[in-house]
Amino acid sequence: MKILLFGKGGQVGWELQRSLAPLGEVVAVDFDSREYCGDFSNLAGIAETVRQVAPDVIVNAAAHTAVDKAESEPEFARVLNAGAPAVLAEAAMRSGAWLIHYSTDYVFDGSGVAPWREDSATQPLSIYGKTKRDGELAIAQSGCRHLIFRTSWVYAARGNNFAKTMLRLARERDQLTVIDDQIGAPTGADLLADVTAHAIRAAVQRPELSGLYHLVAGGETSWHGYARFVLEVARSAGQELKVGPDGVLPVPTSAFPTAAVRPHNSRLDTSKLQDTFGLTLPHWQNGVARMLAEFLQK
Ligand SMILES: NC(=O)c1ccc[n+]([C@@H]2O[C@H](COP(=O)([O-])OP(=O)(O)OC[C@H]3O[C@@H](n4cnc5c(N)ncnc54)[C@H](OP(=O)(O)O)[C@@H]3O)[C@@H](O)[C@H]2O)c1
Repeated sequence: MKILLFGKGGQVGWELQRSLAPLGEVVAVDFDSREYCGDFSNLAGIAETVRQVAPDVIVNAAAHTAVDKAESEPEFARVLNAGAPAVLAEAAMRSGAWLIHYSTDYVFDGSGVAPWREDSATQPLSIYGKTKRDGELAIAQSGCRHLIFRTSWVYAARGNNFAKTMLRLARERDQLTVIDDQIGAPTGADLLADVTAHAIRAAVQRPELSGLYHLVAGGETSWHGYARFVLEVARSAGQELKVGPDGVLPVPTSAFPTAAVRPHNSRLDTSKLQDTFGLTLPHWQNGVARMLAEFLQK
């Protein structure tokens, strides 16, 4: 199997380089790659890359993910999040390749408390959410065989993430305030990449699996609960902190105004993915604890 991976240097792209390797030959590109164009602002360039590489599977981990910045550069966000996926979908349709793509809980308006299903009505609150939804629609309407995974609150061991920021602040500050009225599931880029590889293996044998799936870790929490858990793990590991779990104060979203409006309810129902692919999505605390254990060992 030949796989063309876009966005190889991102959180998910980096883990995909690992998880896709056993499936076959992986040609991985980023926006500044030399041999093949991986720049999503060059739509003709990425179409040409698909033609040259002639992959069986295209995996798109590239996106405009700066949610607040997207509010001030909507056209750029649209090109990356909707225009480029549409071009990849057309190219996949022409060549018969599969297209694997990621989307977001931000396609929903965050109302209510029930977990969103794949067929729940979308109503994005932000430019990022709108452009990601339009990317999904372009892929579905192209008729190409595809897997779209909507996920949320992605973290990776590599680089900065929310957990590492909380640890740093808990060492430096006397008090921490964290939002407690947005609910979702922190999801590791490693889990996303592993599930993607399993799903590709199943889907190439069974084209009827083409479609949209929700993919997040099990359980749910708020950013406040997430921060508390991080500090609990750090304390148990013997870390010296000025602020412990009980010192994290819950505040509403309105305490931290941002350019983009974020959904309050980011719960995603993952039963379709688990039933279809026969996979189990571990609780979010497993992945976060593991990432912290590796980080705290350094
Ligand atoms: N992060 C989250 O919390 C989250 C939540 C829900 C869904 N998702 C979705 O999950 C997918 C993967 O996200 P992620 O967390 O891995 O994001 P990420 O770490 O921000 O990675 C995005 C990748 O896109 C690349 N990119 C930026 N501009 C580009 C351009 N003009 N051309 C080509 N590539 C470009 C980035 O390169 P540089 O790093 O060099 O800029 C990076 O490699 C995305 O579809 C995202 O929408 C993410």
